[in-house]
Amino acid sequence: MPVIELKGIKREYVMDARKDASSKDEGAVVVRALRGVDFSAEEGEFVSVMGPSGSGKSTLMNILGCLDKPSGGTYTLDGIETSTSNSDTFAYIRNRKIGFVFQSFNLLARTTALENVELPLFYRRREKNENRQTAAARKERAMSALRDVGLGQRMDHFPSQLSGGQQQRVAIARAMVNDPAFILADEPTGNLDTGMTLEIMGLFQQLNEQGKTIIMVTHEPELAAYTRRIITLRDGELVSDKRVTKMRSAPDDLAKWKKDHALLSEGS
Ligand SMILES: Nc1ncnc2c1ncn2[C@@H]1O[C@H](COP(=O)(O)OP(=O)(O)O)[C@@H](O)[C@H]1O
Ligand SMILES: [Mg+2]
Repeated sequence: MPVIELKGIKREYVMDARKDASSKDEGAVVVRALRGVDFSAEEGEFVSVMGPSGSGKSTLMNILGCLDKPSGGTYTLDGIETSTSNSDTFAYIRNRKIGFVFQSFNLLARTTALENVELPLFYRRREKNENRQTAAARKERAMSALRDVGLGQRMDHFPSQLSGGQQQRVAIARAMVNDPAFILADEPTGNLDTGMTLEIMGLFQQLNEQGKTIIMVTHEPELAAYTRRIITLRDGELVSDKRVTKMRSAPDDLAKWKKDHALLSEGS
């Protein structure tokens, strides 16, 4: 059973043309942001979503993240048919089935790394008959997620005391703490320099190696080369879906980059 299954997904934005003074006719202009997208991903995949600006990437991300509903088609997530779901189910899916990672980290500033990661557990949506976790169990889980991203020594740091790469690690720990069906990352390294970018791509590769399913939007082909599959959108249509035959190793590239960097600073 696929983790994600999109069938004929359409999203149309209806704009009110009457606000436009130059337009003589009354009525609406329809922007067809997605024109019938079919896509499915199995557990353990690592997929890049690419495409030029305006091609529908954000629209697709919003639908995958259950932040928006399609105008047509069906979306089945981990066996749950979302098209017919109510807003409660949507909230449950967002909290339990999806781990969000954003370009801007979105950490709470006055809150330690540990507390940031505990937050989704605190707001955890429970299934019927599911017990509330104790404070101690929540803390243990959050600590374990931070150790998984290599931040075992930084749990009590505030975001301002962490590098950009470390902040994104906290965000990834937060995304994983509820053991979601997949991670949805939107330009996760957009605010990071080359070294930190390679570190984060290496972490994603490591998590994927452990079986995590990851969907990542990027407009950089060099980053897509660290994933296993690349889908490309154009004008709201999925125009290409390719396996990456030789996935680059981010840890290898990071080691090379560090070496070159050291040589450069020696020479200067
Ligand atoms: N809220 C909205 N209202 C109207 N049109 C929108 C809205 N959001 C996106 N669009 C249009 O839908 C198309 C796809 O946009 P988007 O998904 O943001 O593309 P991308 O993320 O690939 O740049 C664009 O033509 C955009 O102008
Ligand atoms: Mg976008």
